[in-house]
Amino acid sequence: MTPLLDARDVQVRYGSLAALAGVDLSIHDGQRHALIGPNGAGKTTLLNVIAGATRPQRGTVVFGGRDVGRLGPAARARRGINRIHQRPAVFSTLTATENVVVAALPRVIPQRRWRPGGRRRAAQHRAGPLLEQMGLADVASVPAGHLAHGQRRQLEIAMALAGRPRLLLLDEPAAGLSATEVGRLVELLRALPRAVAVLLVEHRLDLVYALADTVTVLRDGQRLAAGTPDEIRTSPLVRQAYADGVA
Ligand SMILES: Nc1ncnc2c1ncn2[C@@H]1O[C@H](COP(=O)(O)OP(=O)(O)OP(=O)(O)O)[C@@H](O)[C@H]1O
Ligand SMILES: [Mg+2]
Repeated sequence: MTPLLDARDVQVRYGSLAALAGVDLSIHDGQRHALIGPNGAGKTTLLNVIAGATRPQRGTVVFGGRDVGRLGPAARARRGINRIHQRPAVFSTLTATENVVVAALPRVIPQRRWRPGGRRRAAQHRAGPLLEQMGLADVASVPAGHLAHGQRRQLEIAMALAGRPRLLLLDEPAAGLSATEVGRLVELLRALPRAVAVLLVEHRLDLVYALADTVTVLRDGQRLAAGTPDEIRTSPLVRQAYADGVA
């Protein structure tokens, strides 16, 4: 089966530092793939390369059977690669609904194109179910700046889903969340439709093992191991990598 995403031999250098030293990663439709590894391993860099925010010096990124290497982030988002960042990014003065509307606008096709405001109404139509899906129906009218940290994370995921992704890239969604908030996030992510493949970067291994069906371990810009959560959990190599340094 052709993978949804096939990144090959990806190399990113910053001066003498190889942030990624020739990494392969493939993800199939509907897969839940986790990318783990110590700080500075190159996880965010690989997400940036897949999203089109960082141009690798070497390597290819094929998505949906097409080489997307020359496309920027907006063009890749239109093809179905959407992401949330390591640092949360929502419009704090806009309500939760308005944030999702803004995110949905580029991707909706109004039913009555010739009517003024048709696109906005179509986006508003999409926002309700997405907020519901992400457990935010009760706070739809609350400005994002007033939401709890965990709710802002949920809102960002709703915004990424508004782009109708085939691949959702999540960079440390559980960072800074309480144990209760992590539990809630796990539930919400597990309930995502299988039409969306997920690439999850996360230090919280409880979340990784609850969600992922495959795990890739990076260290010093190289793929150290890949396998099922059970294989990774029991791998001495992986234990050693984590013992050597993770925040
Ligand atoms: N723009 C940049 N300029 C210079 N060095 C960079 C840049 N971006 C990343 N790096 C370096 O590349 C390496 C990989 O960074 P990256 O952010 O991908 O790691 P990470 O695995 O996401 O780590 P963390 O778990 O801390 O988020 C690090 O040594 C980092 O300092
Ligand atoms: Mg990172």
